[in-house]
Amino acid sequence: MMNSFDLNSYFSATRKQIDEALGSIFANTSSKIVKAMKYSLMAGGKRIRPVLCVASAETVGGQSQDVIRAACALEMIHTYSLIHDDLPAMDNDEIRRGQPTCHVAFDEATAILTGDALLTLAFEVLSSIEFIQKNHVLNWMNVIHTLSRAAGYKGMIEGQMQDMAGEGNLLCLEDLENMHALKTGALIEASVAVGAILGKGSLDQIQQLKTYAKNIGLAFQVTDDLLDVEGDPNVMGKDVGSDQARSKSTYPALLGIEQSKQFAKKLVNNALKALNYFDNKAHPLRAIAYYIVDRKK
Ligand code: IPE
Ligand code: IPE
Ligand code: MG
Ligand code: MG
Ligand code: MG
Repeated sequence: MMNSFDLNSYFSATRKQIDEALGSIFANTSSKIVKAMKYSLMAGGKRIRPVLCVASAETVGGQSQDVIRAACALEMIHTYSLIHDDLPAMDNDEIRRGQPTCHVAFDEATAILTGDALLTLAFEVLSSIEFIQKNHVLNWMNVIHTLSRAAGYKGMIEGQMQDMAGEGNLLCLEDLENMHALKTGALIEASVAVGAILGKGSLDQIQQLKTYAKNIGLAFQVTDDLLDVEGDPNVMGKDVGSDQARSKSTYPALLGIEQSKQFAKKLVNNALKALNYFDNKAHPLRAIAYYIVDRKK
């Protein structure tokens, strides 16, 4: 059933649209802050969240420039989270997306401000009047609400707080799952939800997509933990072994490698089951679910 779907081509075509849109958002200025924002944003991330947003919109309806704009906002929020995650006060990492982290390439203050600037730019982009007029105002309010909630203290930020608290203090399985669902799952769920809202999906469709997203969101972070143990830093574009070095609470640390892999696979199966509700239009989402656990970066 899936043989006919070529995820690589889908990824590169969608990534190209996203990257063009991201490049066109910046005012034509050579200020240091814009240099730093572009340095981190355009460094070649996988763009999984924007691609999920687009694929989710396609599953329920169709693609549009509105979806691409929202996808850009997702990538800005994600990139800001990485810049701050890498700071000395947090994970203290020096390589990201195959190049020195923002605070290494620039300086710590610039990296903090670059994260702040990307986060606020995301909401500037989302609330720009020209886009709100084209789509229904309530849809945009829903998008902004969904994203701000997922990125904030009820979502990603709380997850990052729990991650820091879990250093040197191995969490129990239930707390680990909750931490992963918040620090990574929340933004992935929001990516799928935003696509479904802008694609004008029905409540039933959105419900199924949320179940899909919850499962792949957790599978994504379990796989990230596994890659930190087993991955190739040259392929990943970031250092490996940093979780162990900082005594982080991770799936491999708690369950071991094999059980963590089994768990990730189970989550993907759950995600695929939720997609039974949809026809061929969900093929990109199906392929992304497999990719999330098979990826090498
Ligand atoms: C890394 O995210 C941080 C996590 C939430 C696990 P990605 O693996 O999506 O990083 P990029 O965007 O491809 O660099
Ligand atoms: C990062 O998790 C999650 C967020 C940035 C919100 P990790 O700390 O595991 O991500 P990597 O491994 O540095 O990419
Ligand atoms: Mg971290
Ligand atoms: Mg990190
Ligand atoms: Mg990690």
